[in-house]
Amino acid sequence: MSAGEAAALIAPGSTVGMSGFTGSGYPKAVPQALAARMEAQAAAGNPFRLRVWTGASTGPELDGALARANGIEFRLPYNSDPIAREKINNGEMEYFDMHLSQVAPMAWQGFLGPLDTALIEVTGITPDGSLIPSSSVGNNKTWVDRAKNVILEVNRWQNMALDGMHDIYYGTALPPHRIPIPLVRPSDRIGEPYLRCDPDKIIAIVETDAPDRNLPFTAPDSAAFGIASHLLEFFRHEVAKGRLPATLLPLQSGVGNITNAVLSSLLDGPFSGMTAFTEVIQDGMLDLLDADMLNMASATGFSLSREAAERLNQNMQRFRDKMILRPQEISNHPELIRRLGCLAMNGLIEADIYGAVNSTHVMGSRIQNGIGGSGDFARNAYISIFMTPSTAKGGKISAIVPQASHVDHITQDVQVIVTEQGLADLRGLSPKQRAEVIIENCAHPTYKPALKDYYRRARQHSYGQQSPSLLTEALSWHQRFIETGSMLG
Ligand code: COA
Repeated sequence: MSAGEAAALIAPGSTVGMSGFTGSGYPKAVPQALAARMEAQAAAGNPFRLRVWTGASTGPELDGALARANGIEFRLPYNSDPIAREKINNGEMEYFDMHLSQVAPMAWQGFLGPLDTALIEVTGITPDGSLIPSSSVGNNKTWVDRAKNVILEVNRWQNMALDGMHDIYYGTALPPHRIPIPLVRPSDRIGEPYLRCDPDKIIAIVETDAPDRNLPFTAPDSAAFGIASHLLEFFRHEVAKGRLPATLLPLQSGVGNITNAVLSSLLDGPFSGMTAFTEVIQDGMLDLLDADMLNMASATGFSLSREAAERLNQNMQRFRDKMILRPQEISNHPELIRRLGCLAMNGLIEADIYGAVNSTHVMGSRIQNGIGGSGDFARNAYISIFMTPSTAKGGKISAIVPQASHVDHITQDVQVIVTEQGLADLRGLSPKQRAEVIIENCAHPTYKPALKDYYRRARQHSYGQQSPSLLTEALSWHQRFIETGSMLG
């Protein structure tokens, strides 16, 4: 049926579990038809809003369209759409920002409430009714299983070579029935290529032919190159010390421009025979696969620029044997991340002098995106690395601050911090030792004297000496930015 007819089957106030992960595999037609209906209803004085669950961020046709129509009442688990972000920060949308590995288990545990409709993009439907997943898997297995009704968008743009690339594991269970997940290498296949779906639940099938849309990555600047070169030097050092194999350990690389730039820099060597056990495959990872430096990548979806998405789509046959897409419950599973010994590389918004990391909030209260999978990987990785340029907004903000205005990753989960200024290896250091290394190696020269001064006075006047702090001053840098537009005042 048409997208409009399918959208009419979704009731106001209901909960819809949609496909989609970082701009790949999200439904494209029905959400836009829903947005049109929402706008018409709102104009007639009957507001129409939904509770929207996804895998992670989607695209402008979904989050952007629904948010513009003021049609999202509640959203989980991750968003990077600018219109939805604005609605959240204006207090017009409730947002539950959660660890991506925990979404499916929590849905099964019943903590998230009932799911009315699953709206899922697929590549195709097999003669026996199995679903060929699209360019992301995300939470689709769980949405299809848990929802009362299923609406499918079959997207002709997705390459049929995706058929067979997925690995859908049906072995998860609720405690006390859980058993170990039988995956010991990123390349292991432990499930089946298709999503199972009871045909009686399918209330609509809509055909589409539309590309996955994503923003381009910004071209790496000198800060990104600086970060990448410090990190590569660190890896070389760890290999020389015998603490990492020459092929490194399975790579995890987070979303964003900086992590993508670091992946691109791995192209210059010297590491090869690498693998990835990660959440998303970005442009940089595609290049590594193309250059045969990365043997294979396990993920739950793609996070590609438009050009890279087109490139992959046209060459899917060549790439398909080197990639496995899994449910995000498995791609981000703490048990597997710890077992495989992943090297976690994620971006950050700010870190404090003790190494607590804020990945999500600007000035303590405005959400940027969300924690995504960074917590899944950071806590369980073999080495947990966070990276950022040392300043933001043209130097008006220091990424290294006396105290983080919001904490997503506690100091115990942060082992290495990298900026273009240098790298702080925090493993085995006490809080005071960490502060000295972070300020010395990572802070921008403009902010270093003020950080040193703060730390020196904190050592003199703090209530205790384990993690010295001046409570009334620790967040004054953020307040100064709010009042003057610069942390420098
Ligand atoms: N204060 C205010 N804004 C800041 C900031 C700070 N300390 N640091 C970064 N920003 C802003 C940038 O100015 C930029 O804003 P703009 O889009 O208006 O220009 C935006 O945040 C992105 O920053 P950028 O430097 O381009 O870095 P990025 O694209 O690498 O993203 C994060 C950095 C932290 C936002 C991103 O990594 C993220 O969302 N992380 C959380 C989720 C995650 O780690 N997922 C991976 C798990 S697999």
